Amino acid sequence: EKAGFDHFMLKEIYEQPKAYRDTMLGRMADDGKSVNLKELSMSADYIKSIRKVHIVACGTAYHAGLVGKSVIESLARIPVETDVASEYRYRSPIITPDTLVIVVSQSGETADTLAALREAQKNGAKVLAITNVVGSSVAREADDVIVTWAGPEIAVASTKAYTSQLIAFYLFGLHLAGVLGTQEQAEVEALIAGLHALPEQVESILEQAAVLKQVAESMSHHKSLFFIGRGVDYAVAQEGSLKLKEISYIHSEAYAAGELKHGTLALIEEGIPVIALVTQEALYEKTLSNIKEVKARGAHVLAVANNGSEEEVAKSVDEILAIPKTLPILSPALAVVPLQLLSYYASLALGHDVDKPRNLAKSVTVE
Ligand code: M6R
Repeated sequence: EKAGFDHFMLKEIYEQPKAYRDTMLGRMADDGKSVNLKELSMSADYIKSIRKVHIVACGTAYHAGLVGKSVIESLARIPVETDVASEYRYRSPIITPDTLVIVVSQSGETADTLAALREAQKNGAKVLAITNVVGSSVAREADDVIVTWAGPEIAVASTKAYTSQLIAFYLFGLHLAGVLGTQEQAEVEALIAGLHALPEQVESILEQAAVLKQVAESMSHHKSLFFIGRGVDYAVAQEGSLKLKEISYIHSEAYAAGELKHGTLALIEEGIPVIALVTQEALYEKTLSNIKEVKARGAHVLAVANNGSEEEVAKSVDEILAIPKTLPILSPALAVVPLQLLSYYASLALGHDVDKPRNLAKSVTVE
């Protein structure tokens, strides 16, 4: 049932190109000019009445929601807040009927996420669920559902569910933009073309697995490391850090690159690995200057950068992993893949149970 792979996690990482294609299937017009989520019951008038969006989820799904915030704000120009479900419930969030609450859950059974959904509906808001399980509690109770067609995810560490959630956000962002007229047609078509290119681009990253295995093996001797990035790269950094902690038990922290000098630089010492995400062209210079700050204090920096900019970035780092070029907002769907592989190989090198990490369950149905 692992289809020749040693672990479910690795199998699921390799299933991502298919998961992307399946999640996009039937949701775009044949001419590639628009996205149409026919399964949604929300009307155009309702969409026009949305004044704010709350995205609520836990763990990896929360990290997808951080990217979702950038997607919806940039494509539909609606203000978005993303919250961890266990915090959202108890902070008396301001939920009004013109708030759209989006809950994100692979399993659709996470207790805190389900409670957030109920809280939102009690306050008169509509709830859209992004979930991987059609008959789940979250899917049954939400007003609308976008199913991610990632297929069953068995490994505790979420991989293909996360990236399919990103695809769902891109599609929903484009759906909103179509109704609201917030994007130029040329932009919409470029994004759709970019989405279609992603599966093959992921395949080309998977071909670099051997390099990542080596990097992971040398990283696995360290007690602690950092992930840094700006914008959506920071969101991806947070997911990379969680994945590494979860299955390799190596301590790591994700930092917004510009925030380092407000305290964290004190932890940078000789030889500490820093994984820098440098995929956002508009922010290159800024992130490179943060990389120089950690390099000057002895950090060993691995950068994940786009094809085309890698020569420039390579000058400032110790190792570089180039990923295919895509539109900046789509980059998380590529940049996370090497981080998934790094975690997998680090866990393997340390002899841990990759698919069933200690202390954790696949689905958290208690608060
Ligand atoms: O089923 P859900 O998406 O609601 O689960 C949420 C988290 O428990 C989950 O993403 C967790 O963080 C993963 N094990 C991370 O890999």
